Amino acid sequence: MSDDQAARPGTAPGPAVAGTTRTRTAAVIPAAGRGVRLGPGAPKALRALGGTPMLVHAVRAMARARDVTLVVVVAPPDDAAGVRHLLDAHPLPASAPVGAADVVVVPGGPTRQDSVRLGLAALPEDVGVVLVHDAARPLVPADTVDAVIAAVRAGAPAVVPALPVPDTVKQVEPRGGGEPEPVTGTPDRSRLRAVQTPQGFDRAVLAEAHERIACEGEGATDDAGLVERLGKPVVVVPGHEEAFKITRPLDLVLAEAVLRRRAKDGY
Ligand code: CTP
Ligand code: MG
Repeated sequence: MSDDQAARPGTAPGPAVAGTTRTRTAAVIPAAGRGVRLGPGAPKALRALGGTPMLVHAVRAMARARDVTLVVVVAPPDDAAGVRHLLDAHPLPASAPVGAADVVVVPGGPTRQDSVRLGLAALPEDVGVVLVHDAARPLVPADTVDAVIAAVRAGAPAVVPALPVPDTVKQVEPRGGGEPEPVTGTPDRSRLRAVQTPQGFDRAVLAEAHERIACEGEGATDDAGLVERLGKPVVVVPGHEEAFKITRPLDLVLAEAVLRRRAKDGY
C-alpha cells in the first residue's frame, strides 16, 4: 500500500484552546510490549535491572530532564493497574521536576504505534513538546534527553538521537529459516545512523502523523518515520551508547555492567 493510501483524512490538530498556551514538555513512554526476544518472563519493562524495574529507570531518566513536567506511561493493556501500583511504590526523588501526581498510566495497544497513539491521547492541552521514549532504553543519560528537547525548542519539528553504524549493512532478499539470502545492495555506511530514543517533536506535528498514518501490520517502529511520511523535516542529533535498547538477553548483561559502573562513579 502506498503512503497516500495509508494516510487517513483525519483532522489535523487545531490551535491551542483559547486561554491556554502549549508551553510544557511531556514524555510518553511506550512500555506495553511483551519482550518476546528477551525470552519468557514478565513483560520486558517490568523486569528488574540492578534490582529496580526497567520502567522505573526509564521514568527517572525522563524526569531528570530539566523541562519534563509530565510523564505518560503506556502500560501492557492487561496490567495498567499493576503498573500504577509499581510506579507508586517507586516514587521519584524530591529533586525531580515531575511530582508523583504527574506520572500518568494508560493502557497500550497491540503494536508500538498503537501504544504511542494512545499515550499521545492522554496529553493535556498545554503540552507543546513531546518526547517519545522506549521503556526498553532505561539508561539514556540526561544530557542526551536535554539535547533533544533543546533542538525541538530551537525550531526543529522532529529530532532523533542517533549514532553512526559500526557494522557494514547489507540489504537482502529475506528468506528466513537459515537459508542463504541473496544480497541486493550495500548502502554507504558513512551515511547510515542507528536511531535511538527519546525522539522529540513539536506536539502538533507528531499528533498529525499519528492521526493520518494508519497502523499497518506490525506498525511503525519509530515515530520520526511517521513524520517523514508526512513530508516534514526530521533531524538527527548525537545519541549516546548508553541509550542502547534492551532487546536480547546479552543486553541485560551490558545494562547491569553500566549500572555497576555508575554506582561506583556515584552517577
Ligand atoms: N511497545 C509498546 N506496545 C507494543 C509493543 C512495544 O509500548 N504493543 C514498547 C515496548 O514496551 C518497548 C518499545 O515499545 O519499550 C520498543 O519495543 P521493543 O524493544 O520491540 O519491545 P517489545 O515489543 O516489548 O520486545 P519484542 O519485540 O522482543 O517483543
Ligand atoms: Mg517489539
